[in-house]
Order: sequence, then structure tokens, then C-alpha cells
Amino acid sequence: MTALLRNVCLLLFGLAAASTRLVLPPHEQVARVARFVVHQCDWASLATISTHEPVVGQPFSNVFSVSDGPPGFGSGVPYMYLTRMEISVQDLEVNQQASLSMSMAQTDYCRQQGFDPQSPLCAHVILSGSVMEVNGTEAEFAKKALFSRHPEMIGWPSDHNWFFAKFNMTQVWVLDYFGGVKTVSPDDYYQASPNNKN
Ligand SMILES: *[C@@H]1O[C@H](CO)[C@@H](O)[C@H](O)[C@H]1NC(C)=O
Ligand SMILES: *[C@@H]1O[C@H](CO)[C@@H](O)[C@H](O)[C@H]1NC(C)=O
Repeated sequence: MTALLRNVCLLLFGLAAASTRLVLPPHEQVARVARFVVHQCDWASLATISTHEPVVGQPFSNVFSVSDGPPGFGSGVPYMYLTRMEISVQDLEVNQQASLSMSMAQTDYCRQQGFDPQSPLCAHVILSGSVMEVNGTEAEFAKKALFSRHPEMIGWPSDHNWFFAKFNMTQVWVLDYFGGVKTVSPDDYYQASPNNKN
């Protein structure tokens, strides 16, 4: 490869990298920020009320892969692929109420901008609600959503009886920009456009 060709390639690569830099929706549009963060993150912390000794009745936070749809096709609904062998899923069988949190710190965004994960400038969301199994066409969508972003799931052991579930949110809490936490109703959340245009 000539030096000139290599420089052209590096320039094109640099332009491609710059064009994929994430831009959040304006912070006043709180529901859109929430949709954006949920779509960008492909894993989440899920807190349940523990049913396991020695912490029965105490909060228990664990990591799960999530997807609200294939890239660019976010539905806003966080879907999960679960097995009843899993410790947090056992909690959900007793009490399906849970909290899910996702942060732009999970992407390159906050590091690139120089925002600490705890800074309100590093946008993050907390969802309150419950985890519910899904069936039929919704399970078909959940499968497409999850397997497109987590291809390894296709090979997970079938004797674990995996099933598809969704997070049914009752309240969305958004930490983005200054002025404290903001809340969004599920209706406003689902009506908002998830991308950073229009
Ligand atoms: C989905 O199907 C399973 C097994 O057939 C059933 O136990 C469960 O209640 C169903 N869930 C929904 C949301 O219909
Ligand atoms: C989601 O949770 C709410 C509040 O608990 C409940 O009223 C609603 O029926 C649930 N949604 C579905 C699809 O079951």
C-alpha cells in the first residue's frame, strides 16, 4: 500500500468513526433522552427483592443483557432472555417488582465527553416496574431484538428452558443534566421518538 493510499484510508476511517459519535437528544426532551439511553444500552442492572439467605428481603442488583430492538429499531421495551435457574429470576417468581438501570457510561459517550458516570451529564435512567414473561408475537420480536444484539444467546444451553421477558415500566426516572432527577410516565416515554433527529 502506498503512503498516499494509506493516508486516504486513515482519513476515511477517521471520518467514519467521527460520524458514529453519539449525540443525545436535547436534555429538555426528557422522554426522548430516556428512549435514547435505553436503546443504546445492551445490558442493564436489574434490582430485585432477594429471596436468598442471608439477604432475604434486601435489594439485590445483578447484570442482564437487554435489548429494546435491533439497532435503529428500538421499541422502548427492554426485553430479556431468562431462565428460572438464575438467582434473580428466582426472586422475580416470588415478587416480580424490580428496577432496571442503564447508563451512557456503558457506551463510549461519557468517556469521550469526559463525564464521570455519577455526573448528571453522563445520562442515566432508572426504570421502576415489573418483569413479565412474553409469548406469541411479542416473544418473536423479543427474540429478534435480543439475538441481533447478543448473538451468543443462540447457543445457550437449551436444557435451561430459556424464556423471553419484558420490563413492564410504571415510572421512568431520568438523570440527565443539572436540576435533579426528572420523571417520565410510560405513556410519554413510549410516544417519544428514540433517535436524536426530528
Ligand atoms: C406464556 O406462556 C407460559 C407457558 O405457556 C405461561 O405460563 C405464561 O403465563 C404465558 N405468559 C403470558 C404473558 O401470556
Ligand atoms: C404492567 O404493570 C401495570 C402496573 O402494575 C399493570 O397494571 C399492567 O397490567 C402491566 N402490563 C401488562 C402488559 O400486564
